[in-house]
Amino acid sequence: MTNAASRPRLGVLISGRGSNLQAIIDASRSGGIAAEVAVVVSNNADAYGLERAKQAQIETIVIDHREKAREAYDEELVRELKARGVQLVCLAGFMRLLSPVFINAFPNAILNIHPSLLPAFPGTNAPYQAWEHGVKWTGATVHLVTTELDGGPIVAQEPVPVQDEDDADTLAARILEKEHRLYPMAIQLLIHGGWRVEGRRVIRS
Ligand code: GRF
Repeated sequence: MTNAASRPRLGVLISGRGSNLQAIIDASRSGGIAAEVAVVVSNNADAYGLERAKQAQIETIVIDHREKAREAYDEELVRELKARGVQLVCLAGFMRLLSPVFINAFPNAILNIHPSLLPAFPGTNAPYQAWEHGVKWTGATVHLVTTELDGGPIVAQEPVPVQDEDDADTLAARILEKEHRLYPMAIQLLIHGGWRVEGRRVIRS
């Protein structure tokens, strides 16, 4: 994406509680992000994040992934997002892998947040993985999404210390607080423009 004269339209994809979605909504309304959340999509009808979106009077769509081939699912997702003029897609706890059908429809315009300092601890339960490994620092990462799981170019990262008295839950909670500040900041950086991707690197110009 490049600089946009009008407020860019975000599509946020969720599967669950939606606390990062809430942080994005709040930032879009307080001026922290110069964009609006146009639509929230969930693959799970019970996701609490859908309630958050409704409370914020944002359109919600549920697209159930069961009994659909991955490409057919992704095509439907692309169709719904494009129909609403979505320019930047933010994955916020969306628990599905995306195929090239989806990735290629939004070149360098899909973000994900992950609760570790990637490339350490990709995949699920990253705070537990970090705690169990015994690292002294972990953190949160926002990255562009490619077909490689949690492997796309890194836009922003913040460290979080692991304390002796932490268990995986207290650590996860501290990382989550950091996520809520980091994700809006990374979104604003992308929509503001003035960056490029060189190989794996996101460079500010
Ligand atoms: C966050 O920890 C995020 O990093 C990961 O999934 C979790 C989603 O939490 N991808 P929430 O639904 O935003 O509260």
